[in-house]
Amino acid sequence: MQVGVGREQRAGERRVAATPETVRQLTALGLNVVVEGGAGTEAGFPDAAFKEAGATMIAELPLESLDVLLHVRPLTPETAGRLRPGTITIGFASPASELPTVRALAAAGVTSFALELVPRISRAQSMDALSSQSLVAGYRAVLEAALRYPRFFPLYMTAAGTIPPARVLVLGAGVAGLQAIGTAKRLGARVSANDIRAASADEVASMGGTFINLDLDAAVEATGGYARELGEDRARRQRGLLAPHVAAADVLITTAAIPGRAAPLLVTTDMVAGMRAGSVVVDLAAESGGNVEGVIAGQDVQVPVVGGFVTLVGLRDAASAMPSDASRLFAKNVSNLLALMTADGRVAPDFDDEVVAGACLTCGGSVRHAATAAALEEQP
Ligand code: NAI
Repeated sequence: MQVGVGREQRAGERRVAATPETVRQLTALGLNVVVEGGAGTEAGFPDAAFKEAGATMIAELPLESLDVLLHVRPLTPETAGRLRPGTITIGFASPASELPTVRALAAAGVTSFALELVPRISRAQSMDALSSQSLVAGYRAVLEAALRYPRFFPLYMTAAGTIPPARVLVLGAGVAGLQAIGTAKRLGARVSANDIRAASADEVASMGGTFINLDLDAAVEATGGYARELGEDRARRQRGLLAPHVAAADVLITTAAIPGRAAPLLVTTDMVAGMRAGSVVVDLAAESGGNVEGVIAGQDVQVPVVGGFVTLVGLRDAASAMPSDASRLFAKNVSNLLALMTADGRVAPDFDDEVVAGACLTCGGSVRHAATAAALEEQP
């Protein structure tokens, strides 16, 4: 069976859905891998390396004849429409925001798997691309902050004087937030964090951070370890309780998210105005609405405060900014999911497997993911 890997279509996307290592894994399973020329160049995987690993290089992917298509970003409706019925696709699909593509995948009879839908259970951890890419993004967020912060992160005691460590506050301590805490600690900062999930206090402590308990009462956990949206009253209360911690921070990194929803607003313009001049705010949720008021995805915004300004960084494509390791992890997630569906050189999804069934977005002309199907019905 023929597995295709193309150049990513979205401007600025530098990752690739396969690496020479995963090409070897897939060919060992009896699959033929076809890679579009240049697909891995920006991620540091040249055509020659794919070829050496056993891939067939091709100038343009034969979309109409592929059995499987691997991708990073959601496909366009046009690409989805060119696939033949029964083609299997694996990649990010952003079903909540890419409804036209979901509709096109269903109309084309494509069996699509969305990496966002892979169940977050132990057995599926090696296929969890949300986690692997969040790890990259959390690390990157700290580096972006450190480069813009006009002072050191670590404590220095020198003959010329003592420099205190930076105070880093991380809001949202999921996979990206925990990685940000660990990275900021390794740089020598003093790190504190808050999250609304009950389990997060121990997780923050395990990374060396100090957990800020806001006493918001009642757990706000949904299934799968995710947070549930706070009601407006409690959200307002959370912002009020966070304000002094935000004002005391030199560096603020926000990563809070609710799956399928716009990012919760955690920091208002007034709260930013209370920060010291020179402080830096990196919002990893900028692309989904932002945790910080005034943030613009893909841009730095300088907010005037007494004595200078605070820099708001709307981080965009954070994982794509480190395309080599991000692709290495992403491609492994993808090939592990494909391997789960492959036996004797044939890809045949077993829908009795909860990972396969959970990750499936469309199949046989219909949308299998209930929330996406409901959203499509609301927007005919
Ligand atoms: P995410 O990217 O959806 O959200 C990031 C963080 O924002 C979460 O920790 C969430 O609790 C937090 N958040 C949401 N609203 C907030 C608010 N108002 N204030 C402060 N924080 C807020 O989450 P992510 O990183 O994808 O993972 C969330 C959890 O899922 C993990 O911590 C873990 O418990 C679970 N998980 C389980 C896995 C497995 O078992 N295989 C793999 C990865 C994650």
